Amino acid sequence: MKKALITGASSGIGFEYAKYLNHNGWSLDLVSHSEERSKKAREFFHNSSNNYYHFDLSKKDSVLELLDKVDCPDLVVANAGITLMSKAGESSSLQRDELYYLLCGGVIDLIEGLVPRLKEKDASRIVIISSIGAVTPMPKSSLYASAKSGIYSYGRSIGEELANDNISVTISLPGYVKTNAHKRAGLDHLEKKIPFWMWVSAEKVVKMTEKASKAGKNTIIPGLAYKLIRPFLGMDITSKAWKMLNSRK
Ligand SMILES: NC(=O)c1ccc[n+]([C@@H]2O[C@H](COP(=O)([O-])OP(=O)(O)OC[C@H]3O[C@@H](n4cnc5c(N)ncnc54)[C@H](OP(=O)(O)O)[C@@H]3O)[C@@H](O)[C@H]2O)c1
Repeated sequence: MKKALITGASSGIGFEYAKYLNHNGWSLDLVSHSEERSKKAREFFHNSSNNYYHFDLSKKDSVLELLDKVDCPDLVVANAGITLMSKAGESSSLQRDELYYLLCGGVIDLIEGLVPRLKEKDASRIVIISSIGAVTPMPKSSLYASAKSGIYSYGRSIGEELANDNISVTISLPGYVKTNAHKRAGLDHLEKKIPFWMWVSAEKVVKMTEKASKAGKNTIIPGLAYKLIRPFLGMDITSKAWKMLNSRK
């Protein structure tokens, strides 16, 4: 039985990933922060032999402890994350450190810790859930966008490096996905403001990301709408539209 390690598996994209792999007969190590919030996943998978771990992955000690506890998986899905809206100059040092570690430094520590063991396998895969924010300016979300950009760059580089070791690396860059993330960040207004065609379901993100990963692709932008607008990302007009869509007015 193939084994996957998924971080942030209690809801949203991570939970959908766990459902998809469980349906396809995988054994799962599921990591999230809150034991309470992971109840839904535990109830859903009640008959399976999954392992559940609860760690605050914004802390280095937690990532190191997790690395000690888990067996080497065939697939790593580095997905755990939060969204943070913060104006430049208004975040605290602790907020910045924790966000950067959760979205970037901690993902690198996790992958660096697993790579020596992954190299001993005949073949394995790494999937990193970054964001479309990695390739487009996100005013008032600069910390989030830059952390996602950092992990995108790391993933692209190790993807080339590890190809000879039969380890594929795929970075997924989703746009807007309806999950708990926005509510948790106090951004509920986005559900009304963002047009329907800009939302991609978590299920679609998972299916397209898995397809890309199995095909050995380095980058995937799930959803047709985002594929079409990708050439325009970073242009003034796109940034203006992004600002308008995200404003609370
Ligand atoms: N939703 C979007 O529009 C969107 C777009 C692009 C990229 N993404 C990325 O997709 C990934 C998954 O987000 P989602 O949208 O599925 O959000 P979600 O429904 O809020 O799920 C986030 C998951 O990450 C876990 N997590 C958060 N902080 C953690 C911490 N400090 N330690 C351990 N686990 C932690 C949560 O566990 P607990 O509930 O226990 O805290 C939960 O399982 C994130 O990396 C996010 O940046 C999302």
